Amino acid sequence: MKRARKREETFEKFNPLENKTILLGISGGIAAYKACDLASMLRRSGADVHAVLTKNAKEFITPLSLQTITRNPSHCEQYGANGEWRPEHIDLAKRADLIIIAPATADMLAKLATGICDELLTTMVLASKAKVMIAPAMNPTMMEHPSVVHNLEILQNRYRYEVIPPEFGEVACGDWGSGKMASVETIVAAIASRLVSHGAMSGKHIMVTAGGTREPIDPVRFIGNRSSGKMGIAMADAAFARGADVTLVSTVEVDRAYPVILVETAFEMQEAVEGEFDSCDALVMTAAVADFRPLSVSTNKIKKTESEDINLELTKNPDILDLLGRVKKKHQVIIGFAAESEELLSNASQKLKRKNLDVIVGNDITVPDIGFGSDDNAVVILSEDGTRENLTRMPKRAIAEHLCDLLASKFAAMEKTPAR
Ligand code: PMT
Repeated sequence: MKRARKREETFEKFNPLENKTILLGISGGIAAYKACDLASMLRRSGADVHAVLTKNAKEFITPLSLQTITRNPSHCEQYGANGEWRPEHIDLAKRADLIIIAPATADMLAKLATGICDELLTTMVLASKAKVMIAPAMNPTMMEHPSVVHNLEILQNRYRYEVIPPEFGEVACGDWGSGKMASVETIVAAIASRLVSHGAMSGKHIMVTAGGTREPIDPVRFIGNRSSGKMGIAMADAAFARGADVTLVSTVEVDRAYPVILVETAFEMQEAVEGEFDSCDALVMTAAVADFRPLSVSTNKIKKTESEDINLELTKNPDILDLLGRVKKKHQVIIGFAAESEELLSNASQKLKRKNLDVIVGNDITVPDIGFGSDDNAVVILSEDGTRENLTRMPKRAIAEHLCDLLASKFAAMEKTPAR
């Protein structure tokens, strides 16, 4: 009996969202019925939850249900007296620590991406500086529509909104595919990890390298590799979404709200990375840097000759990671990647030690459909403290989120360790 009470007390005391004000935005889709469970779980986790329903959401769920569950008035109207001198959308928007929109319909995504404020909810989002998370839910064909994909890209990459991806399964209309709103547990876990770990990444300067370098042979030819930059861009996007100051050094051109330094060769990448390294809290080298470059670059296009053979003399490029591993400061974390075609574990672990890294992410590039160029990867993560994690095939963005969690925990551990 005594033991049972102790467990209950422990549970009651576990309020990870205590003192957090969460604005729960609900738009008009069938998944709106799950908002009650979400509100309940958030409240039981300690959060002060305020539900904001769009006009269409009220077709699926009542403000009264949410009011009862959240123990706060529900909000629906853009206009009208609320008895306070300050407009409601400004007051609540200012107080919120986080805004979660679940479900977010295609219509809601379009309004958020373009800044339309014809509802209390969209107006509040614009009037708030809080972190915004969105859990889309819709028919799978709608989810794949280029306009929805485009709007999600804008929300993630321009506005730093965090998307909690929908799940695969049967949706309400009977179709199968990706469009089911993420489970309530997944959403609450994502919110908790954002509100709890956000502090650890916020304001940290994270430099990420992406893509494959190109080493010129002559004005038209180069030595290159198959790296698409997807892994590095996913890493930079994930860190940026968590509030980090991100610099991306990339061989692939991307339009982002954070600084992107475009480079081509290993030398250019070295120059860019070294120029920023001192101000960095972490460096994540996903780039595939050419180990060799042509010894001399022809100023004119090399002409076909009578001879069947042509010899290209190569010379070693600097190893950027190796050089920076030697000068890294105690507060800096370096994560390298290892692309291996054999002996993945032992080769990755040798690189971890030789280059004085904190973490190395090894991927087996002989496995078809993952690694170079693909949206997915499967990796083994080795840390200098001897820990090892295997991540089976998953989207590169999910791997990036995992690495952000790892970085956040390393920063948090450093802050706890007293400076000597
Ligand atoms: O870009 P994607 O298409 O998404 O593909 C992702 C990826 C396969 C490129 C990525 O997951 C990956 O494995 N990146 C590292 C590729 C690589 O160059 O591995 P490496 O084992 O040769 O180098 C080890 C580490 O040293 C890497 O972090 C690399 O950036 C760094 N390096 C290598 C050579 C060099 N001259 N300087 C370096 O800094």
